[in-house]
Amino acid sequence: MTNTTSDSPHIPVLLRPILAHLAPITGVWLDGTLGAGGYARALLDAGADQVIGLDRDPLALQMAESWAAPYGDRLRLVAGNFAQLDAHAGGLVDGVVLDLGVSSMQLDQAERGFSFAKDGPLDMRMSQSGLSARDLVNDAEEETLADILYHFGEERASRRIARAIVRERQDAPIETTLRLSSIVSGCLPRPKPGQSHPATRSFQALRIAVNAEFDALVAGLEAAERALKPGGKLAVVSFHSMEDRVVKRFLTARAGQGGRANRYAPEAPAEVPRFRLIEKRGVSADDEELAQNPRARSARLRMAERLDGPAEPVDHQILGLPRLILNKPR
Ligand SMILES: C[S@@+](CC[C@H](N)C(=O)[O-])C[C@H]1O[C@@H](n2cnc3c(N)ncnc32)[C@H](O)[C@@H]1O
Repeated sequence: MTNTTSDSPHIPVLLRPILAHLAPITGVWLDGTLGAGGYARALLDAGADQVIGLDRDPLALQMAESWAAPYGDRLRLVAGNFAQLDAHAGGLVDGVVLDLGVSSMQLDQAERGFSFAKDGPLDMRMSQSGLSARDLVNDAEEETLADILYHFGEERASRRIARAIVRERQDAPIETTLRLSSIVSGCLPRPKPGQSHPATRSFQALRIAVNAEFDALVAGLEAAERALKPGGKLAVVSFHSMEDRVVKRFLTARAGQGGRANRYAPEAPAEVPRFRLIEKRGVSADDEELAQNPRARSARLRMAERLDGPAEPVDHQILGLPRLILNKPR
């Protein structure tokens, strides 16, 4: 039985600016990353008629049973991936919020295998199904592992770490988070005070690969475009610069401002606008929020209003996706 307790409750990030910039909150909203329900509850309390709360982690939905009752049928809980959020919504919506990444509960539960600081099985699957980090770490070719660490974790020692993983797994399969964390740490200099744990980038990279997070993000943005009514609002919170770059480039292109596949490519012709950007440069946490929740430090919020341009698949070349994903067959 999975432990549903958590060391620290999940504190919703950048919620105040979302509610302030997207007011009035009315009609049907889809929260594609329900987690502990911080956004869903706030949207309902702010005036949404209904919230569709979607999460790919069955535990998030199970935990919602402890707080959902007072909202009755104003809250509809759905298990699924936001990559198909339009299908899960089942009709047009007035707003979509996505708060990317993992929740504090997922990180805190050692048995989910997300944390390099807590010993647990090497799992990292948000949906608790499919290939796990254990499968990847023990079965992938050395070159594939190195590419994952480099492209999804921006880990410069990717080749050294991949070589150490392959060497170690020949002795015995790598089954636990702490064993992997110590293999990675052994390849890197000891961190200076204030620097992050040496395994941070490798764990992020493996989590992104296990959960195909960039595939889901691009599909989710396209699905949000299909699901939103003209005038509907989109808010996306990302936690690292690679994710934020994709969200920013998607919205900039969809706001009709062209975009380039790379710095040498010609500017793409302006598109029919599908979105109007709200707070063009994005929003970060202010000092007050940072004092209450240091986890908000790396969060960035991008928002836009849906216009009436037709929804269409986006050119993936202009999104600045990690190169690894572009090599995958679609
Ligand atoms: C940062 S938490 C969201 C926290 C939430 N906003 C709150 O205030 O409690 C991210 C959640 O999104 C879920 N998630 C991540 N990627 C997903 C995807 N592609 N589809 C559905 N859920 C996803 C995770 O399982 C996790 O529960």
